[in-house]
Amino acid sequence: MSAEKKTVYVVVCAAGPAGDVGKLIDMAHERGWDVQVIATPSALAFIDTDALEKQTGRSVRSEHRAPGSPRSPKADAIIVAPATFNTINKLANGIADNYALDVVNEAIGLDIPVVILPFTNVAYTNRTPFQRSIDALRSEGVPILIGPEGFEPHDPGSGAATRDTFPWHITLASL
Ligand SMILES: Cc1cc2nc3c(=O)[nH]c(=O)nc-3n(C[C@H](O)[C@H](O)[C@H](O)COP(=O)(O)O)c2cc1C
Repeated sequence: MSAEKKTVYVVVCAAGPAGDVGKLIDMAHERGWDVQVIATPSALAFIDTDALEKQTGRSVRSEHRAPGSPRSPKADAIIVAPATFNTINKLANGIADNYALDVVNEAIGLDIPVVILPFTNVAYTNRTPFQRSIDALRSEGVPILIGPEGFEPHDPGSGAATRDTFPWHITLASL
């Protein structure tokens, strides 16, 4: 890994496409990014941590480091994908009750570019609190790639069928 390379944090939440996050890592590597994967605690059950560590050359982080242990390289940009209903709502309200949320909350305050690609069904998406979260994050300058140009919410129970068409690539394009 070269010292001049920029680092993108890929924050993975506990939704169907999480197991395919290696696709996004390949795309990011092709564009010259170093990648640091950060998983929410719930996302750990969805991903192959060993495979992602081999792919990125970095430990997958899901907890705060112990005092005195080395920091991860600073993020030049952050992609949250797939982003859950839960994490989007918490982030919009400044809740930082896990490491991933802590990192993203702070990055928004530091004006580090953050882009969010949700994976939510129409039932979640239609909820008023979720719509408020999208508006709140966009008003802070955080793109949420949902709608005709981004992720199109699916019917409840049909997420597995749409996993292969999850548009990972649009996150990098929007950074
Ligand atoms: C098999 C499975 C699939 C799930 N798929 C989704 C999903 O597509 N989108 C979503 O927002 N939540 C989904 N959930 C619910 C989230 O995993 C749950 O809300 C969790 O608390 C989210 O944690 P996180 O936001 O910290 O990653 C799923 C849960 C399970 C067990």
